[in-house]
Amino acid sequence: MQLRAKITGVHSYVPDYILTNDELATMVDTNDEWITSRTGIKERRILKGDHGLSFMAIKAVDGLLKKNNTNPLDIELLICATVTGDYNFPATANIITDQCGMKNAFGYDVNAACSGFMYALDTASQLIASGKYRKIVVVGGDKMSSIINYQDRTTCIIFGDGCGAVMLEPSTDGTGIIDSILKSDGSGCKHLFQPAGGSVLPASHATVEANKHFAYQEGQYVFKFAVTNMANVSAEIMENNNLTADEVDWLVPHQANKRIIDATRERMGIDESKVTINIQKYGNTTNGTLPICLHEWESKFKKGDNIILAAFGGGFTWGSIYLKWGY
Ligand code: UT7
Repeated sequence: MQLRAKITGVHSYVPDYILTNDELATMVDTNDEWITSRTGIKERRILKGDHGLSFMAIKAVDGLLKKNNTNPLDIELLICATVTGDYNFPATANIITDQCGMKNAFGYDVNAACSGFMYALDTASQLIASGKYRKIVVVGGDKMSSIINYQDRTTCIIFGDGCGAVMLEPSTDGTGIIDSILKSDGSGCKHLFQPAGGSVLPASHATVEANKHFAYQEGQYVFKFAVTNMANVSAEIMENNNLTADEVDWLVPHQANKRIIDATRERMGIDESKVTINIQKYGNTTNGTLPICLHEWESKFKKGDNIILAAFGGGFTWGSIYLKWGY
């Protein structure tokens, strides 16, 4: 049987602090009814204190290693998908491998905004399928609260903090990652990005005063692209693999807006009971949404289940992955 990569374990971590819609309404001009009806979000988690993404990632990865009874010295590679790494450099992956005792692993970060976890998962799966590597950890997570302006009601209501991690290992039993479609369109950059802090606009008094270090999003414009592309790419991967709606056991979608999730599900023709939705609890954790969903639904997945992952995010970036659950 063909050598593939399969997910052999998943774990996640979300911080304790719950920022509710009602609390947000004391900070900006918004209300629970508007946020719930427009996005499906009721609350999100916020990482307090001087902690970076690695704080959450280390908890997710340590939990994963323990759960899978894996010696950290056996991990060969860790890829971390994020837009809010601890530092611009070095990669947060390096901090995670050090803190989790992965002395034999190399690591790097992937930046594809909300689609980053999917990009990293596909890359890691090809590295396993090549036969060169046998144990790779893929992390997806973000501390979005570090780049959100809590005076900007168009962005602060959506995002939250959280992180998840999966283990990938070789599979020859027909389960694992079977297909992927990954896309990007860089002309979308100006509609969803963090204007300052990179090499175009390094940090200065002026950039801080102008709030340029916060995430900027043209919500409606992004929404239109997200709805169409996430739905289309999910339908396309079904067609490419001759999957009928009945044969899809689960859709695991990026949690950006409940209306985008509903449109994707409708386009695929599948029932809501087959969709992992936890946006009401965590909001949009950017790279964290997919692994957190996988962890939360892990006990419901059965070996051989047909699962479609789908995401859309800044860049623009989007895509879908078709996998058969491995355990
Ligand atoms: O994950 C990465 C990709 N990102 C996404 O997929 C996000 C895509 N975009 C969205 O999810 C939605 O566009 C938002 C949730 C960001 C906004 O929802 P919307 O339905 O597109 O609202 P809108 O921007 O068209 O605003 C509608 C109205 C406006 O008022 P007027 O002009 O109709 O009087 C806004 O000023 O709602 C107002 N508004 C708000 N009202 C209360 C905007 N934000 C808020 C708010 N509370 N937080």
